[in-house]
Parts: sequence; C-alpha cells; structure tokens
Amino acid sequence: MPATVIQVAASSRKYPVHVGAGLLPQLDALLDETGVGRQRIVVSSPTVWKAHGTTVKRALGNAEHLLVPDGERSKTAQTVGRIYDALIRMAADRSVTIIAVGGGVIGDVVGFAAATYLRGVGLVHVPTTLLAQVDSAIGGKVGVNHPLGKNLIGSFHPPLAVFADPEVLGTLARREFRAGLYEVVKYGMIADRGLFERVGRNLRAIVQREHAVLAPVIADSCRIKARVVSEDERESGLRRILNFGHTAGHAIEAVTRYRRFRHGEAVAYGMLVVADLAVRRRVFAEEERSALADLIARLGPLPSVSDLSAQALVEAMRRDKKVRNGRLHVVLPTGIGATRIVDDVTEDELQGSLCSLGARP
Ligand SMILES: NC(=O)c1ccc[n+]([C@@H]2O[C@H](COP(=O)([O-])OP(=O)(O)OC[C@H]3O[C@@H](n4cnc5c(N)ncnc54)[C@H](O)[C@@H]3O)[C@@H](O)[C@H]2O)c1
Ligand SMILES: [Zn+2]
Repeated sequence: MPATVIQVAASSRKYPVHVGAGLLPQLDALLDETGVGRQRIVVSSPTVWKAHGTTVKRALGNAEHLLVPDGERSKTAQTVGRIYDALIRMAADRSVTIIAVGGGVIGDVVGFAAATYLRGVGLVHVPTTLLAQVDSAIGGKVGVNHPLGKNLIGSFHPPLAVFADPEVLGTLARREFRAGLYEVVKYGMIADRGLFERVGRNLRAIVQREHAVLAPVIADSCRIKARVVSEDERESGLRRILNFGHTAGHAIEAVTRYRRFRHGEAVAYGMLVVADLAVRRRVFAEEERSALADLIARLGPLPSVSDLSAQALVEAMRRDKKVRNGRLHVVLPTGIGATRIVDDVTEDELQGSLCSLGARP
C-alpha cells in the first residue's frame, strides 16, 4: 500500500507527514528525498530500540545512535542534557539532523534538544506509539516537564518530516495502544463523524492492528491535526478544539499524580464529562452521547474515579493553564464531528457531570 502524505503548514515552512506500513525499512531513502543531510543521529529509548532498533540500524547503516530513557518521569531537562552531551561529543554542527524514534516522550525531549542545540538543528520524527503518530509528532510543540509541573519548559520546533509506520505499533502494549485510540475518537468527535463511525465498525481489526484498516485511521487523524495546527499553530483559537475532553482529563491525571491513568484514558473520561454536560444544556443529543459512551466502553475498562472528589477535580481545572482571564474555556460537543467553545460553564455544572460519571460528590 503506498504511503499517504499530508502537508502541515508551520509558520516557518511546510513539512510532510508520511503514513504507511513499511516506511521504517526505507527510512534512509526517505530522509534523502526529504533533503536531510548526511550528518544524522538517531535518538531512541531502550524499549523502542529493543523492538525496532535492528530495522532502524539496517535502514540507516552507520548513523550514530543514542538511547535515553522514556516514560513521563524521564521527560526532563536532564535527559535533554544527555542528548546535548552526545551531540557535542560527536562534534555535531548546524547541519546535523536528529531523528527521534519513539513515543511522545522521546519526541518531545528530542525535539526540545533539536530546538535549542546551536539555537536549532534539524529534527525528524519517527513516532512509535499510536498517540505519537496521531498527535504529538505533529504541530511542532516540544518540551520537558519541570518538577513543579508538566510541560512547563518548551518551544515550537516543527520537524523536517514525520514518518508514521503502523507496523511499529505491533509491539505496543495493548493499554498504550488503546490510550492512543481515545485520541482518535477525539478527532472523530471534533471533526469527522465518518472517522468516529469507522472506528466503531472496525474496532476488532483496529485493536488487532491490521494495517489495511489502521493506516487510513491514522492518516485521517493526522489530517485533522495537520489542518488544525496549520490554521492555528500557536493555539490562539482553532487549536483549542484539540483540547476536547482535556479539561477534565488533565484534572483527573493531576489529581491522581499521573500514576493511575494513561493520558488517553483520562481524556476518555473528560469526553464523557463534556458530553454529559452538553446533553444537560440541550446542545447535544442524548443518542450521540450514548454512541460516544458505547464506543468508549467497547474500547475497554477505564481506571476508576469513584474515590476522586468532584470538588478536587474542579479545583484542579481551575489551576490548569487553559484558564484564561479567570474563565474556564470548555469545548462542548454539539454533534458527533462538531464542537463549540464556551466560557460560561459553572463549577456546579462540572461537578454535576463529574458525579454522574462516578466521581465522589
Ligand atoms: N508535543 C505535543 O504536541 C504532544 C501532544 C500530545 C502528547 N504529548 C506528550 O506525549 C507524551 C506521551 O506520549 P506516549 O503516550 O507516546 O508515551 P511514551 O513516549 O512514554 O511511550 C509509552 C510507552 O511505550 C513504549 N513504546 C514506545 N513505542 C513502542 C513500540 N513501538 N513498541 C513497544 N513499546 C513502545 C515506551 O517505551 C513507553 O514505555 C506525554 O509526555 C505528552 O505530554 C505531546
Ligand atoms: Zn491529548
């Protein structure tokens, strides 16, 4: 199957997102085609390298590689420092291109190193989780966590290209894969009823990672993210719709200290919360809310929220950086594939919906 190529317009230039099974073994030729210079370093993690390092090495011959730990706790300035060390040791100059092979953590950390080393060098993303393929590798946001908060240190650094190969997802843990699928459901909810319905119809094949079904689902998701960030790179307007389900989602993650939920699972709850709220406001049909709830239920069990207090969750939302001028902006569904951003949601409404989803009053 030929790869799909989606163009993203960043403020500085355009870059392509390639989606297709079997891209990884052809990486060398693809990098040449993109115009990537010969000074290349691959940065990956031990887990990803164990699963796919042989393929990458075979594809890229003698390119240097560096392994740094991944997982949220390694998304730190210290890990970025290790990447700088390797670049300086190999005497990398401004013509170097750093190839990030891994999930969202690797992409964000390596991207931040690429944004700052010598005030910016080339970056290529080879995302290896579903979340990274449909979300974090596109849009140019890079960064690390600070001990006092997530994603507090960062920059914008669009890649030269993104290569998303669904074949690499075969080794992903089931729960990680599902966590990425909730973001796909999000894209359906905000922009594409057809995608939402296709996920429901083909769930088995998707979960079994059949490339013929999965590749177009990834490509459609990438197309939506690409369209949104091309229109609004810096999140002044349209890009905010990508936060659908994320207001309550972030709060659930924060209150459980990022330990209980995968990000996508928290977003799944968050989508259910805004869907409930929108039905109560009569801007969203009950049948559509139940279609969303059914799809999420079919995707598998979510961790419990029954011990979390709705009030603590609302307080966490208030602290979130998405609160502007003291008002919480909430993306409400108005149909499957359509949303509206409102800034008049009350804390009572939020608490009501959180409780109906199982949080403690
Ligand atoms: N930059 C952005 O716009 C953006 C958007 C969304 C999320 N993010 C960030 O992305 C991060 C989450 O990314 P993630 O969910 O990919 O998590 P992750 O990078 O921690 O990867 C999850 C796990 O999967 C493993 N893994 C990766 N690829 C694998 C493969 N092919 N086979 C087997 N195991 C594999 C990793 O080793 C890790 O243990 C968060 O830090 C989040 O802030 C960034
Ligand atoms: Zn998300």
